[in-house]
Amino acid sequence: MNEQDKNGFDRREFLKGTSAIAGATAIGTLAPLGLAHAQGTKLKVGLMLPYTGTFAPLGIAITNGIKLAVAERGGKLGGREIEYFVVDDESNPAKAPENANKLVQRDKVDVVIGTVHTGVAMGMAKVLRESGTLWINPNAGADEVTGALCAPNIFRTSFSNWQNTYALGKVVKDKGHKTAVFITWKYGAGEQMNASFKESFEKQGGKVVKELFLPFPQVEFQALLTEIANIKPDCVAAFFSGGGAVKFLKDYQAAGLKGKIPLYGPGFLTDGVLEEVGDAAEGIETTLHYADSLGTKKDDAFRLAYVKAYKLQPDVFAVQGYDAGQLLAAGMEAVKGDVSKKAAMIKAMESAKIDSPRGAFTLSKAHNPVQDIYLRKVVGKQNKVQGVAWKQLADPATGCKA
Ligand code: BEZ
Repeated sequence: MNEQDKNGFDRREFLKGTSAIAGATAIGTLAPLGLAHAQGTKLKVGLMLPYTGTFAPLGIAITNGIKLAVAERGGKLGGREIEYFVVDDESNPAKAPENANKLVQRDKVDVVIGTVHTGVAMGMAKVLRESGTLWINPNAGADEVTGALCAPNIFRTSFSNWQNTYALGKVVKDKGHKTAVFITWKYGAGEQMNASFKESFEKQGGKVVKELFLPFPQVEFQALLTEIANIKPDCVAAFFSGGGAVKFLKDYQAAGLKGKIPLYGPGFLTDGVLEEVGDAAEGIETTLHYADSLGTKKDDAFRLAYVKAYKLQPDVFAVQGYDAGQLLAAGMEAVKGDVSKKAAMIKAMESAKIDSPRGAFTLSKAHNPVQDIYLRKVVGKQNKVQGVAWKQLADPATGCKA
């Protein structure tokens, strides 16, 4: 791959960390000893994200977002420069414990930011719960992470798998559809999004007549699309993302289903893919905690800064990465860079109000965003906001004892 790839991700610059944009650290001569020590060393931030495979664009957008939040603070958080330690987790759950341990045991990072894939997050959870290392999850929706596996050191700046499809079930029923087919990959995220869609759609009186799965990250959709054509449901709801979403949207159109059976999804289906899919996504409505063209001061400023820095339009993944940086900044500022004050840092993070491009949000007791879920519609190259599908939706945090 080129040093500067098409997503604006410059690997050489990235591996150098932020040292290029951060100036020398000034240590006040009268600073207390612990503080002086804390500020004199770089904060070690582990990034465990996919940089290869179908979710690579998501990992890159998240990384860009984190680095933008740091750059906006002069390259420092709580007075400390940042040193990044990077692991490509390949969206491979089998390697997740080993990869998380590389950051925790080998690199001894102060905080881990990751990941995208729910199965990988489940593998990270065991390691990070045991080590107590601060963990900010900037995407993976695994319900358990802010449910049964919740812990004081675990935070999420994205969503739970339950949230967006719960809102979607009601939206679809309100549009008058009585039957639906749900199609997705067979792994944690697909199964949990399918379950919450079904819970919500059927609570409103709809019926999920078929649940279709294919193994992650396969993209051989043809047989399943033929099955959908035979079933003739009122509508289809789908969760795919990244490269898989691009292929699915194109195949849905090529199979002649677009315009015949309305397609919906959580917004991962159409976020970050519109440049690539041509008109295959035009008119598709989705629910998500972010939308293009929100038109707020914060979002406008974020989008402008992102485009300037990366020559790319931001998407929800960039927003989630940016907010992971903002949440870490809130903790770091509260302890003036002294991460040994862990309890104070956690307290500041859990009570932070994050001024997000999606709209300001706070965290639930289980450390998951309580946030508006938007209804969006693809118009040209934008997921245009249509309204709020569900105001301030909080994940139920099933099993969280914290
Ligand atoms: C997940 O595996 O949790 C996930 C991946 C991509 C988009 C949304 C969720």
